[in-house]
Amino acid sequence: MAAGFLVPLPVLTGLLLFLCVGPRAEGGKVLVLPMDGSHWLSMKKALQELHARGHEIVVVSPEVNLHIKKEDFFTLMTYAIPYTQDEFNDLIRGHSYQVFEKVHFLKMFLKITENLKTASFIYQRSCKELMYNKDLIGHLNSSSFDVVLTDPVYPCGAVLAKYLSLPAVFFLRSVPCNLDFEGTQCPNPSSYVPRLLTMNSDHMTFLQRVKNMLYPLSLKYICHFVFTPYASLASELLQREVSVVDVFSSASMWLFRGDFVLDYPRPVMPNMVFIGGINCVNRKPLSQLNGQVGR
Ligand SMILES: *[C@@H]1O[C@H](CO)[C@@H](O)[C@H](O)[C@H]1NC(C)=O
Repeated sequence: MAAGFLVPLPVLTGLLLFLCVGPRAEGGKVLVLPMDGSHWLSMKKALQELHARGHEIVVVSPEVNLHIKKEDFFTLMTYAIPYTQDEFNDLIRGHSYQVFEKVHFLKMFLKITENLKTASFIYQRSCKELMYNKDLIGHLNSSSFDVVLTDPVYPCGAVLAKYLSLPAVFFLRSVPCNLDFEGTQCPNPSSYVPRLLTMNSDHMTFLQRVKNMLYPLSLKYICHFVFTPYASLASELLQREVSVVDVFSSASMWLFRGDFVLDYPRPVMPNMVFIGGINCVNRKPLSQLNGQVGR
């Protein structure tokens, strides 16, 4: 008999386990293009976990930003954008308090649209500065990354993945205008899938279904000016026609920070994974009510 069979079973099991889950067993190189603000705070936790599992992480961000600062579990690479920190803060979140003012709905809609236009212009400008930063793009291109991890609400990461011919993984809570459905060709019946801002549930009366079909039309305009510039930028870089849906269909995987405990049922595609629990990293036990329920 071969001597190998005499190795005690626990040792063999231990060795196998080490080979399977050892820290550096399958370390990949992950290029991360995050969305700033609260989106980044959720993503940061996931990156920390990826780092702990032996993956190498490089985060790319404009040097002027809101929350993306150096940490010891990733390498931060920054690029210049033509704004000072004060200008950037003012333009991005300058007038958000207006949302709480009591004004007419239409006035509010126009105001929010105006602010959104300014903010999305800054992000588009920032994306352009990255793509035309020859040194940084050259460096990223020669670093042989395995994957781009990005939040598609800021589709710059999806464009970057296309430009560098890398697979993309999307990490998101949601995207407006059903671009997740369109990008994955996921079935999306208006009669059953409640649309953003409608307050409908998955059981709708006839009138609610009509509302469900009409609401998305008003958002189309916003999505047009927010997302079309990324399709134009991708077309420019790749020298071929790229549509918004092309940009959103480039992901190999969609990691949704959602859970059907909170969300209504919806059709999903095989490359969609629900990871809602990731936002519960800093969970605390529920407070003890000591029989005070109902007070
Ligand atoms: C990346 O490098 C490859 C191989 O050198 C080259 O063909 C390609 O054009 C480069 N891509 C970019 C975006 O610079």
